Amino acid sequence: MSRVIASRVYDLYGRFYDSFEMLFKRRLAKAISAIPFHSGDRVLDIGIGTGLSLEYYPSHVKVTGIDLSPGMLHQAQRKLDEGFVRADCPHEDTQLIQADALNLPFPDKSFDVVFLSHVISTVPDPQRCLSEAFRVAHDHAHIVMVNHFRSDYPVLSWVESAIDPICRKLGWRCDLSARTLLAQGGVENLDLLPHAEGFIFRIIYLEKNKNTVRLAIMPAPLEREPKFGPA
Ligand SMILES: C[S@@+](CC[C@H](N)C(=O)[O-])C[C@H]1O[C@@H](n2cnc3c(N)ncnc32)[C@H](O)[C@@H]1O
Repeated sequence: MSRVIASRVYDLYGRFYDSFEMLFKRRLAKAISAIPFHSGDRVLDIGIGTGLSLEYYPSHVKVTGIDLSPGMLHQAQRKLDEGFVRADCPHEDTQLIQADALNLPFPDKSFDVVFLSHVISTVPDPQRCLSEAFRVAHDHAHIVMVNHFRSDYPVLSWVESAIDPICRKLGWRCDLSARTLLAQGGVENLDLLPHAEGFIFRIIYLEKNKNTVRLAIMPAPLEREPKFGPA
């Protein structure tokens, strides 16, 4: 799906995406609550969509969310403007920008945490998206991905291949292999690749160390604020 079409499709989804928030939020809460943030960390949320993740970032970090779709960003901005999320943060600590995940408008090593949820399978070039995430990540950054990836189970994998053409018409692909993606991205430690939760979604924790990126074991979720749901 081209960027122009993806943007239009997600503009349309923006109107009702949050009706399905229960499908996404528990995973977002779990993934973000395990990130060991430091005060003042700069976080980049790639493909932030309607901003479902915003309520889970601690107030002491600065969040930049980018998305291709003005319709999705509009919903995220509305949550901010109406004080549903990050109401206790200085206004300038949350920025929403229309931008392409494949050509991020940031210099190298700009962020301490890069978060990608349910986005890597929607872009036309997942490898490029990953390398952009690595590029803008600081030398000791955490890069966290939450996504559906192709199943390790042959029958499910076969089903995913079969329905992939339909999924692509709807705006995402379901045949993306996490192992291939990470291997081609030069990620080390692939033995730690987690199995899918409920056969479908995975939370992948990566740590950048200067020029290398390694898979890491997901830290235990931290109880930061009472609004976190159960992991
Ligand atoms: C399934 S939604 C996920 C939204 C959010 N991250 C979440 O987990 O709820 C995918 C998002 O990726 C965005 N997207 C797709 N292609 C993109 C691109 N090339 N650059 C930036 N955002 C993109 C879409 O506009 C959409 O908001």
